[in-house]
Amino acid sequence: MLVAGNWKMNTDLTAARQLASAVVSAVGATSGVDVAVCPPYVSLDAVFSAVHGSTIRVGAQDMHAEDSGAFTGAISAPMLRSVGCHYVILGHSERREYFGETDASVNAKVHKAIAAKLVPIVCVGERLEDRDAGVQNDVVSAQLKKGLEDVSSAWPSGLVVAYEPVWAIGTGRTASPEQAEAMHGHIRGLLVDQFGEEIGRHIFILYGGSVKPGNAAELFSRNDVDGGLIGGAALSAEDFAAIVRAAEGV
Ligand code: 13P
Repeated sequence: MLVAGNWKMNTDLTAARQLASAVVSAVGATSGVDVAVCPPYVSLDAVFSAVHGSTIRVGAQDMHAEDSGAFTGAISAPMLRSVGCHYVILGHSERREYFGETDASVNAKVHKAIAAKLVPIVCVGERLEDRDAGVQNDVVSAQLKKGLEDVSSAWPSGLVVAYEPVWAIGTGRTASPEQAEAMHGHIRGLLVDQFGEEIGRHIFILYGGSVKPGNAAELFSRNDVDGGLIGGAALSAEDFAAIVRAAEGV
């Protein structure tokens, strides 16, 4: 199980330090659950220091596909490694919607992240109109196949997939446990096809979209739901810790 907090564009440096310290205290020692926090770039270094000595790892919310060069405003995988990042979220629906992220750019970033020994958390998920049209499996299949094209099994423990239905992000509307389980099973099949049984069965598939302390246990208890990618609730150390405990209880 993995529970990762995506802080999105929230917290300045002071608030990020405070939240990270509060998360360390509230989460405490965990068993059987990996925990990560993904603050904005400018706070990565400080948050890495704040969680140092705990089991909590740090991730970034995006990166550029090149290591260095004339890409004003961009941040590369080696830079993320240099400030202690273990994970990087790639292809979040907000990056796709507001910043022109495509499956091809996600794929380029996944390759670079793996080369830099960062663990990519690759996000996929359909829009409401896709689900209403009944094509959610096709949409997610295409995102995953293109996003993971030519990714080999050479880095087996180093890949995480997050299923985040766009209509459930920040809306308070969660996929039902049945909907989540069905899609996670579909994603599992795709991962087994690509990586084989041994590796495909062990890649964590996280659910994201309005996960809260009140619904986490039920979602996490479902087949192939290996934890969560948490947005709003990750901005409260108490709520985030309660979600981690829900994962531990599964
Ligand atoms: P919410 O938990 O706020 O719905 O956000 C989910 C998400 O986008 C995590 O990456």
